Amino acid sequence: MSTPLPRRPIPLIDSSHKGGRSALTCRFRCGNQCAHEVANTSGNPYFGDVVAEAISRRGVLRAGALGALALGAAATAAAATPAPALAASGTAAALAPGLDVPQSLGFTPVEPTTADALIVPEDYEAAPLARWGDPVLPGAPAFDFENQTAAAQAKQFGYNNDFVAFFPLGQQRALLWVNHEHTDEVLMFHGYTNGTAATEEQIKIGLVAHGGSVIEIERVGRSGRWKLVTQGPRRYNRRITPLTPMRFTGPAAGGDLLKTAADPAGTTPIGMINNCAGGTTPWGTVLSGEENFNYYFVNGPSAPEAQKPFLARYGVSPTAAIPDDSRRFDRVEERFDLAKHPNEVNRFGWVVEIDPFDPDSVPVKRTALGRLTHEGATTSLAKDGRVVVYMGDDARFEYVYKFVSKKPYIPGSDRHNRTLLDEGTLYVAKFTGDSPATEIDGSGKPPADGRFDGSGTWIPLVTGDVSHVAGMTAQEVLVYTRVAADKAGATKMDRPEDVERNPITGGVYVALTKNDRRTPAQADEANPRAVNKHGHVLEIVERGNDAAATTFAWSLPLVCGDPADASTYYAGFDKTKVSAISCPDNLAFDAAGNLWIATDGNALGANDGLFVMPVRGDERGYLRRFLSIPIGAEACGPVVSPDQRSVFVAVQHPGETDGAGPDKPSSHWPDGGSSQPRPAVAVVWHTEGKRIGS
Ligand code: FEO
Ligand code: CA
Ligand code: CA
Repeated sequence: MSTPLPRRPIPLIDSSHKGGRSALTCRFRCGNQCAHEVANTSGNPYFGDVVAEAISRRGVLRAGALGALALGAAATAAAATPAPALAASGTAAALAPGLDVPQSLGFTPVEPTTADALIVPEDYEAAPLARWGDPVLPGAPAFDFENQTAAAQAKQFGYNNDFVAFFPLGQQRALLWVNHEHTDEVLMFHGYTNGTAATEEQIKIGLVAHGGSVIEIERVGRSGRWKLVTQGPRRYNRRITPLTPMRFTGPAAGGDLLKTAADPAGTTPIGMINNCAGGTTPWGTVLSGEENFNYYFVNGPSAPEAQKPFLARYGVSPTAAIPDDSRRFDRVEERFDLAKHPNEVNRFGWVVEIDPFDPDSVPVKRTALGRLTHEGATTSLAKDGRVVVYMGDDARFEYVYKFVSKKPYIPGSDRHNRTLLDEGTLYVAKFTGDSPATEIDGSGKPPADGRFDGSGTWIPLVTGDVSHVAGMTAQEVLVYTRVAADKAGATKMDRPEDVERNPITGGVYVALTKNDRRTPAQADEANPRAVNKHGHVLEIVERGNDAAATTFAWSLPLVCGDPADASTYYAGFDKTKVSAISCPDNLAFDAAGNLWIATDGNALGANDGLFVMPVRGDERGYLRRFLSIPIGAEACGPVVSPDQRSVFVAVQHPGETDGAGPDKPSSHWPDGGSSQPRPAVAVVWHTEGKRIGS
């Protein structure tokens, strides 16, 4: 292995990340998950059914003083000035009341639209930065839609960019990490019908269009605009695919459930798939979450009987040999056939750590973080410097998790820090409302106390190789984490996607995209609407504002939908002034602590987009649409650069509308004319180089 390339400081603000979805999106994103049965059939209570927690909300709020928080806190925690006790409201808005960080959001919101364009506010410009098929590695050919090959795609920017992370290399250069979540073969190839009828070359192209990319970018002059470096050495550039050798670490590595014929030691998995959102670490690596891995496998009915309940719990069909939506990777990689390699499926669904500064490094699947359909993996630091990773499991009625490391982060001690995600405790969240269950009727009508709020606990599932779940070993808890969380009594949520921590206040935000299957009887204070079409955002204030706390207060600052709809709530802000938002997915914070929200599946009839909302001060709840993306696309990323002069947004699956295809494209973004649509990461900047929103 070559000497690692110079490591640069990374931004303290983490990036991150992900209704009216088309049938194509449902098919290719998650194998028509919405049309299938809910995988969580556990008898786990909805919290309208449960007895109130022993810890009352008041008890949580009294719990402690506030201190330093978020990345970088370890170095300063000891010297932190004691902060005021939490205000009675219990919201994160109260955590930094007098803090003088400008929130600066002076732009005119973009109107809802169905235009096939990336539309930004007046005085801003946008341009694609990296498109599907753009050359990444040396020798990569220029993109040629009509003459695609797997060999070319393996060196080119992959399909469906999702999570984006930004790593500055000084003022003028930077690295972007980009997840390539999945492929849309119907849009990629003429005449594609399904994986069984596809050519082997098409399957191989789709395979290597998954994974991730490291790309070097350069600033244009002194502006907030960036472009792909296309000349000269690009020594960090890298493609990671489902064929990239990786390794397992942590308590489940080497366990029987991870062993296969090709890897009898159970330590060297190959590749990653369906990487959705993610996060960055204080030591400058990327965490990338494998999401809907389940629908890449065939022959579930031929899997061992004892395995079938676990397959079902993870949404792998135990009845359909070849699911309708299968890409048939098994035709080119036999390991995707459960009849032949039943444990291979256990080797996906992990958080993968990747070092973007070392192109020769082996990506690591960190088993201590559990196996889910992972969305994001956002890192923060506890007051004592331990590393905390917040994670969502994006499916209907799934759970919110966090991992707390055993040992603290030590700035500059790279070897030590690289071990932190292998030893610690994995928790799952239980949310309890403070209003009587009878006041939550599923309509979204607020309870008598006027707020959807309450307290919560982080329930430990496993610590190192010690299981906290009766009847399950530590390895079983980590490989079948959903089953362990069922037994622990976690709260079933409305599709937990991204989870992000505010760098200014320490509040933790959970995007709950939607859940069309929740019934009125299943409504609870944390998921208060039945047939939740538009989703909501939940805010957690950890006890003592310490990320390692095991109890917390929570509330819903944002209940999405048409502001004229009585069931919506914009943190009490005047709803005649806000932009309508639907289906929050990926979250990010800028340096001022404003919450950026990308949407996926706007069910209000307009295209998806990127929104921004202050979460403290007089403008808490003043949500505005910053940009609108092209037809058929979902907005991902997003990242605001540390200097606040650039916003990066990943436009995933433009043109993915029912009936569309290469012979009848519904979008021509980003290349225009009669071109085929191409997923692309775009950059937005102020025409005068000002800070975003100023
Ligand atoms: Fe890949 Fe949960 O969105
Ligand atoms: Ca997402
Ligand atoms: Ca309440």
